[in-house]
Amino acid sequence: AEDVGILAAEVYFPSTYMRQEELERHDGVPSGKYTVGLGQQGVAFVGDREDPVSMGLTVMRRLLERHNVSPLEIGRLEAGTESSVDNSKSIKTYLMVLLEEAGNTDVEGVDCVQACYGGTAAVQNAVNWVESRGWDGRYAVVVMSDVSVYPAGPARPTSGAGAVALLIGPDAPLAFERGMSATHMAHAYDFYKPSGLYPAVDGPLSVYCYLQTLDLLYSRYTAKWERRNGRPFRLADADHALFHAPYNKLVQKAFARLMYHDITRHGEVPESLASCADCDLRDGSHPRQAAQMPGDLEKALVAHAFPAYDAKVVRPSTCVARQCGNMYTASIWSGISQLIETTGAALEGRRVLLYSYGSGISATMLSLVGRPTTNPRFSLARLQAMSDLSMRLARRLPKSPADFEQAMRLAEQRWMAGNYKPEMPSLDDLEPGTFHLVEVDTRYRRIYARK
Ligand code: ACO
Repeated sequence: AEDVGILAAEVYFPSTYMRQEELERHDGVPSGKYTVGLGQQGVAFVGDREDPVSMGLTVMRRLLERHNVSPLEIGRLEAGTESSVDNSKSIKTYLMVLLEEAGNTDVEGVDCVQACYGGTAAVQNAVNWVESRGWDGRYAVVVMSDVSVYPAGPARPTSGAGAVALLIGPDAPLAFERGMSATHMAHAYDFYKPSGLYPAVDGPLSVYCYLQTLDLLYSRYTAKWERRNGRPFRLADADHALFHAPYNKLVQKAFARLMYHDITRHGEVPESLASCADCDLRDGSHPRQAAQMPGDLEKALVAHAFPAYDAKVVRPSTCVARQCGNMYTASIWSGISQLIETTGAALEGRRVLLYSYGSGISATMLSLVGRPTTNPRFSLARLQAMSDLSMRLARRLPKSPADFEQAMRLAEQRWMAGNYKPEMPSLDDLEPGTFHLVEVDTRYRRIYARK
């Protein structure tokens, strides 16, 4: 199959969220610490009525219904998650109820688990399947769904929740550039989940690993590009860039670093950076692998990169991540829906660079290109016209830090528990069409219903 990629994308976030300003006041930290320091606006959170399974069901049902895809058209279904509700049973098998009811159980794929990277691994599997000799002509669906929670402390404002569903197939309006992906896999203990609800996280180390891996992948990606195209890659060759987004400040720094690499590689030092005392950019003496840039240089770079960052990254694609927090596996892919909503058919002929990072370490830099599809059901113009993303973000229900803390306490109590009926939030707070937990019985079986 040719031009394999994303035919349609849906994102789901809980209807309840807390504003970061309120969390700053509640935590007694200086004003601006979370909103400016981390660049975040809100934290989406679920009570015990929703979980990664119910969010996966909600987002997949949205994908099928809104894009008029029959369950019989799906030949592969795979989920990416790092917050599953069971140590053996995959989220994919829960999602199967949406296909089983139409009589389709001939569906390959299970879950991919590896920190925030599981969704990307599932996308790679889906794309490879559609391109393979084993493909039977049907579509693949990839669902990423996570609830991200941290104990009280500096990591808690980077909590979040959400799910994404992608329809993968040929003749796609957003096609993956084959051969143009660079991967880094290594062992690190920056973030892992040895036991319990909360991760064991070394925040500064995780940031270091994220940025160091970015440096490495940019050099690998650009080398591949140069071999293929016979000229160096520059950031200007990417019209948009999506990053795994634990919090927006890191995304902003990541984009500025890519610009830094362009500057050192091509020896074109802009006026605004010429006086930067800590590092002579011109001779490229600053070690490229050093994740810790001198503070002055980082600030100057972020300021220099801002106009391009604003146009290519923040305005077209970061709204969901800034307003919902870290959605783990769904984080980077949530930017696709917003990119379609903001840019639509103008994406045709444009390149989208993606940096997917999972702690541990697993990461890939890859790219998509917008193109006219011959399938009108999935044209970018149509996808844009039917998008309701900003409307849904705007009608969420703001909740207080006390509500958020109550949700965290419930999450601690409910962790791998059985024999309970959910309490929070009220069913009235859920949007129509949302799947939710009705009960976990004495044998830990989870029963879901749709509002
Ligand atoms: N106004 C404006 N900015 C402020 C203020 C203020 N009042 N106070 C602090 N800041 C700035 C700091 O200067 C700093 O900015 P800088 O990064 O440009 O230097 C920023 O806020 C962050 O503050 P720190 O004190 O450096 O860090 P903090 O203690 O808030 O912790 C961290 C941040 C480590 C990211 C923490 O939230 C965490 O552990 N999160 C979970 C792990 C994570 O998300 N890792 C990222 C990659 S891996 C993954 O996806 C899980």
